[in-house]
Amino acid sequence: MNHQPIEGFSKLTKQGKIDWLVNEYLEGDQEYQNILKQYWNDNAELQKLHEEFSENTISNFYMPYGIAPNFLIDGKLLALPMAVEESSVVAAASKAAKFWIDKGGFKTTIINTKKLGHTHFIFNVESHKLQHFFNFKLKKKLFEATEDITANMRKRGGGILNIRLIDKTAEMPHYYQLKASFDTVDSMGANFINSCLEQFGRTLREEVAADEDFTHEEKESLQIVMNILSNFTPDCIVRAEVSCNMEDLKDDSGISPEEFAWKFRQAVNIAEIEPFRATTHNKGVMNGVDAVVIATGNDFRATEACAHAYAAKDGQYRSLTHCTTDNGIFRFWIDLPISVGVVGGLTNLHPLVKFSLALLGKPSAQELMSILAVSGLAQNFAALRSLVTTGIQKGHMKMHLLNILNQMRATEEEKQYFVSYFKDKTVSHHEVINEFNRLRNK
Ligand code: MEV
Repeated sequence: MNHQPIEGFSKLTKQGKIDWLVNEYLEGDQEYQNILKQYWNDNAELQKLHEEFSENTISNFYMPYGIAPNFLIDGKLLALPMAVEESSVVAAASKAAKFWIDKGGFKTTIINTKKLGHTHFIFNVESHKLQHFFNFKLKKKLFEATEDITANMRKRGGGILNIRLIDKTAEMPHYYQLKASFDTVDSMGANFINSCLEQFGRTLREEVAADEDFTHEEKESLQIVMNILSNFTPDCIVRAEVSCNMEDLKDDSGISPEEFAWKFRQAVNIAEIEPFRATTHNKGVMNGVDAVVIATGNDFRATEACAHAYAAKDGQYRSLTHCTTDNGIFRFWIDLPISVGVVGGLTNLHPLVKFSLALLGKPSAQELMSILAVSGLAQNFAALRSLVTTGIQKGHMKMHLLNILNQMRATEEEKQYFVSYFKDKTVSHHEVINEFNRLRNK
């Protein structure tokens, strides 16, 4: 069936949108209306609040919200909130937390907290002339012009740290940048940074127009292309690490601590040099990071983009985590670039985000950076631990089995039967269905 485009979808009421969608795409089937409505919150005010987070909202999309307890982080015992749909992630985090709790736990260090943004512009002018204009006239004006925007942030201890002119003309004709660094304290700072940058763009245009040292042709050539923060924050880094004596790496799979440490280090080394493996390795790290990023109302697309750009910072995509086994000490760590906030955005609006932040003891942005790095490191530890010992499927299969049984609407009793039936067998969809039919037909 060919569908017709719609004008003014956003202007329809919620019910109007649903009616149109169901009639146009779902043959008017009432069941689809019911699915959408089933996930509306009973509390109309709360529902409205959720709808206003985004546009054209017709329902809420649910994700499991789980807890990984027993995380000892810098001496504090925390239970991490994790919003994630993938089975085994929360279990893996909990296992890693438990493993490290009696070995000193996780230690973190904030290495730096600088955020970056750029005004990208094209200007057909001699580079040294522009540099002179920037140094002696423009830079001061940029700070002055943003004083109102930065006033509150400065009161909180942040603001614009520095602004530089970057000459990119060797890579693209007449391309320059104003590159600014910011301290956004406890906020992620996207709105603040972008507002400052847009003002930079305006001030640059005005100051060039008013400056007598530029010729008419030069002035005419200035094009502000865009003003935008960078999600790549290589100067906003937190380190999380664990370490222990090698003999303490006891694993119940029967492998010796030395063999475990050796295999584990090889697994990390492989991810350092092999991008195919590094991608999966880092995906596993981000399983841990993103689940807490989402639970705390932060932007997981930004954290993903930043982590992967950082993993490729020397031109080859590599592991975000590192491991050494020198002098009998096993050491495993991550340097994670991550820009997050604990004020602004959804932090005070989304009830579960509020809950998450309260559960974490209302952390500062820096403390949240530490928690996120720990969550990523723990997740990677758990994945590698499984991979170099029993293999990953053992843990995954129980959840896979439960997912199939839930689809079959199995009873609790049947689920128990299946978990014990498949204890020493490989779970396959086909096998589960066969056994299920056999059991029900008995
Ligand atoms: C699955 O979501 C993540 C893993 O593949 C990570 C890894 O292989 O390191 C288990």
